[in-house]
Amino acid sequence: MATTYGTPAAGSGYDRSKEVKEFDESKMGVKGLSDSGITSIPQFFIHPPETLGDLKTSSPPSTTIPVIDLSNFNSSTHRPKIIQQVKEAAKTWGFFQVINHRVPISVLDDTIAAIKAFHELPQGEKSKHYKREESRGVMYASNNDLYRTEAASWHDSLQVWLGPDPLEVEEIPEICRNEVVAWGVHATEVAEDVMELLSEGLGLEAGKFKELTFSKGKALVGHCYPYCPQPDLTVGITSHTDPGFITVLLQNHVPGLQVKHGDAWVDVKPLPGGLIINVGDFLQIVSNGDYSSVQHRVLANPYKEARISIVIFFNLSKWKGDGEYGPLPELLSPEKPRIYRDFTMGEFFENFYSKGIDSKSLIEKIKI
Ligand code: OGA
Ligand code: NI
Repeated sequence: MATTYGTPAAGSGYDRSKEVKEFDESKMGVKGLSDSGITSIPQFFIHPPETLGDLKTSSPPSTTIPVIDLSNFNSSTHRPKIIQQVKEAAKTWGFFQVINHRVPISVLDDTIAAIKAFHELPQGEKSKHYKREESRGVMYASNNDLYRTEAASWHDSLQVWLGPDPLEVEEIPEICRNEVVAWGVHATEVAEDVMELLSEGLGLEAGKFKELTFSKGKALVGHCYPYCPQPDLTVGITSHTDPGFITVLLQNHVPGLQVKHGDAWVDVKPLPGGLIINVGDFLQIVSNGDYSSVQHRVLANPYKEARISIVIFFNLSKWKGDGEYGPLPELLSPEKPRIYRDFTMGEFFENFYSKGIDSKSLIEKIKI
């Protein structure tokens, strides 16, 4: 039987790379395809049977990622309990939602509205921003890994590097410029608060990870998951782990995000005012496996309204040196020997940019 995705059987007459290139060059994105009223999706979006067969394996709706209330996290009475909750969540789930994180709800709403407004710009205007330059500046495109992955996914993204290099603010599309800059500041504060708690959860000084510059390297990605006419044949974003240190994710009320927990996929239900935090590969490695970077994915959106999410990936900025990175020496002991070898930044980037996001994470490669 001819494969219906990826590289079809010889003689089928389907030129996948040509179709992908034409889609990319049309600059219309998945949003443009969706708005055009198509009722079936182009073949290069169709995922392999292993992926599609696993789409319906959701857990009972009562299971959810932990919700942690950060009110009073600076009070000495409450802090130990909050540290315990954050630590437990980062170990067993790798994902949690925080509420009462000090960012006004109006800021969350304005950020979502601004990213939505960008994705809803008229085609002619939005396509002026379409370009692929992944490692710096501002990029708007459909599927960052479009040319590396086997099957494309049903989302478009606006990516803005907020650090460590100074941001050229004028490069950000005007319609969301102020909101993107403001969100960068707020999300960094939340990330720093949470990293203090995670740091203490490992028995380290509260400021340890900040000292290691975890919040200096950061990329904001404003995703749009438009309505998909055939949500059983593709995904919103392929199952993956985040390569960085920690991720802060803000989403609108349209569901779709799922987290792997044991063998089940658990829905991350939108929680008004909540922010989702997840552990990335780098933190799993540095914590010598104490915190878990877990697989997550987004289902293709079956609803008429677009799903919007704004993700900020935080990572160390000191990478620019030639040093090696690995489990923190202060966490190792004869009882707790290292489980990962050290790695270089060259290895990290090579792993990230050589394959699609669905590829094996660096973690697998450096396991001892
Ligand atoms: C990501 C991601 C999930 C979402 O961008 O790495 O997992 O809800 N996004 O958009
Ligand atoms: Ni992710």
